[in-house]
Amino acid sequence: MSKRSIKILDTTLRDGEQTPGVALTPEQKLEIAKALDELGVDIIEAGSAITSEGERQAIKMISNAGLNAEICSFTRALRSDIDAALACDVDSVHLVVPTSDLHLQYKLRKSRGEVKEMALDAVRYAIEHGLTVELSAEDASRSDLTYLKEIFLSGIEEGAHRVCVCDTVGVLTPERAYELFAEIVQTVDVPVAAHCHNDFGMATANTVAAVRAGAQEVHVTVNGLGERAGNAALEEVVLALTQFYDVETRIQLKKLYEISRLVERHTGMPVSPTKAIVGENAFSHEAGIHTAGVLAHPLTYEPIAPEMIGHRRRLVFGKHVGSHAIENELRRMGLEPTKEQVREIFEQVKKLGDRGKMVTDAELRAIVDAVMGRTFEEIVKLEELTVVSGNKVTPTASVRLRFEDKQVTESGLGVGPVDAAINAIRKVVEGMSNIRLQEYHVDAISGGTDAVVDVVVKLTDGKRIVTARGTSGDIIMASVQAMLNGVNRLLWDRKLGGSE
Ligand code: KIV
Ligand code: ZN
Repeated sequence: MSKRSIKILDTTLRDGEQTPGVALTPEQKLEIAKALDELGVDIIEAGSAITSEGERQAIKMISNAGLNAEICSFTRALRSDIDAALACDVDSVHLVVPTSDLHLQYKLRKSRGEVKEMALDAVRYAIEHGLTVELSAEDASRSDLTYLKEIFLSGIEEGAHRVCVCDTVGVLTPERAYELFAEIVQTVDVPVAAHCHNDFGMATANTVAAVRAGAQEVHVTVNGLGERAGNAALEEVVLALTQFYDVETRIQLKKLYEISRLVERHTGMPVSPTKAIVGENAFSHEAGIHTAGVLAHPLTYEPIAPEMIGHRRRLVFGKHVGSHAIENELRRMGLEPTKEQVREIFEQVKKLGDRGKMVTDAELRAIVDAVMGRTFEEIVKLEELTVVSGNKVTPTASVRLRFEDKQVTESGLGVGPVDAAINAIRKVVEGMSNIRLQEYHVDAISGGTDAVVDVVVKLTDGKRIVTARGTSGDIIMASVQAMLNGVNRLLWDRKLGGSE
């Protein structure tokens, strides 16, 4: 028997962009839309055409980019919104009409009859203009069921191709979602979509319940972005459906991690390390029992292989580390430590971890070098750094580095002095090697204006990733130190040519 298959409508570019603090340029939207298309999303809600000139430019670019996905614009039940969508060459409209008395009374100040008329007029108008129409009921989960059905049934009579039930403020539970969706699925003869918000942390569970009740389409966003607590996360819904319910989608699972990072970069909304599926820690292990288990058989502490979604496993070294993990890491580095050396490294890592800090890769390598009598050479050295910042000047840094036997000078601008200094170093490093800064974290170790700060960076050369730390009373120097520590580790590892 063939598997049941459902459609994915991704609304990262509309509901996701409504995340407070997020605004994407048309170019960024186009890049994300292309990635969503490659991921296998069926419908891309590219934005709301009525919003602004920039939004229309973005939607139009996406519509004309030759993507496989259906390109959709959000519209209210207004002819002007539909005209704006038409001007962007979209395939479909996500035509939204509020249905709860709360919204009718306080937001629209209209009666049920008036709102129904508006909805039907808009559906008719969109159909007449050749658009595919998904008629969506906003706040459906708090609406009178009879009225909700009436809106859907009369909209379908006017030609709506699909309907969508919105749990706008995330008040459904999986049981209630199942009942509501089963009721709507039995009432209408067009596909039903689920649009669930995460106010109570149940968006994924409610979306899955909707699918179990017969919904044929789900609305999701990458990383669960969206208004307030966000929408159901694409990666969570897709994984739950395919892993636990034998429901198929067209999503290429291997691209999930990559698109999560792309959206994180463009939206500036950091993905929590503990975020399900795509968080940095989703496949990281530190505790001794866990790392030993994972090394013996990954499935002991991982529900799926990280490679399945394009992620990777990481063993983290800190106070919970086990000697087994240390030994494994040393062997992975091509070393053959004695039992005493493993013990010594294990003790030193624990000691560092006991200070309440994660042990970075660069620190672990320094311990290993010291214990095993290995040499380490700084390939890049800081010779001079000047930073200018102030009230009416753009923060600027100039840096002179010695890169093996060459002296390299660069300058960089930034939003602040730290950014300027990092940008200057970045230019040298990216020019001479292909090392990129992936993450930057800063922590004050002590309080007060004379606080000692601790900067941890994550760098990659595409093949390897290293974390490194810099600690100083001066945030610029701490940042520069962290960068150079990481860069030197990567370059040294590369020079040794091992698997480190
Ligand atoms: O959450 C919601 O109800 C929405 C609609 C406006 C579609 O995003
Ligand atoms: Zn929404």
